[in-house]
Amino acid sequence: MKFFMDTAEVADITQMIDLGFVDGVTTNPSLIAKSGRDFKEVIAEICHLTNTPVSAEVASTEADMMIRECEALANIADNVVVKLPLTHDGLIACAYFKDHGIKTNVTLCFTATQALLAAKSGATYISPFVGRLEDIGLDGAQLLRDIRTIYDNYGFETQIIAASLRTVNHVMDAALAGSHIGTIPPSIAKKLIEHPLTTNCLSQFIKDWENTGQTIL
Ligand code: E4P
Repeated sequence: MKFFMDTAEVADITQMIDLGFVDGVTTNPSLIAKSGRDFKEVIAEICHLTNTPVSAEVASTEADMMIRECEALANIADNVVVKLPLTHDGLIACAYFKDHGIKTNVTLCFTATQALLAAKSGATYISPFVGRLEDIGLDGAQLLRDIRTIYDNYGFETQIIAASLRTVNHVMDAALAGSHIGTIPPSIAKKLIEHPLTTNCLSQFIKDWENTGQTIL
């Protein structure tokens, strides 16, 4: 499973690049607001850091304006992926870009039938929201499995970005469900690394090694 970083914080993305984790980046209007940065400036900076796909979301809700915004965003860098909401107008814009060489990430997907529509409209990526479904007591992992089954049944090429992943278990669910990609906040990426047994065993190894009085170099 590929890892996209779900953040607009340049420092966090740099750290994750150093770890070799970054296969792409996703942002949304809330993450841009949280960064306090100018939208186009921060997207340009992220695209300069990594030549992997970087999702930038439209602000308009009408198809013709969405298309114009997508064109402006896609002009920032070759690796910009335009992010469109899963609405009637979002799907019109998605279908438009299928034939115009701009990659699309259809976001705010909460049902497998919505994901089927996005694939039919030619989305490059679909973003089902696991955490937000669980917020209302529904099964996000099942949604990921259902989308994967439907896409495999019909040979759709749309890639599944498991989104709204808020726990280590969500990441595991996404991988087990066969999601092509998980978009992961930096805080969760750090938690994926850590395990108390790793920490404890390492302390013991360091202590025992010191007792040998040896050095490697
Ligand atoms: C990514 O594309 C989504 O916008 C993001 O994962 C949403 O996460 P949240 O539901 O935790 O805000």
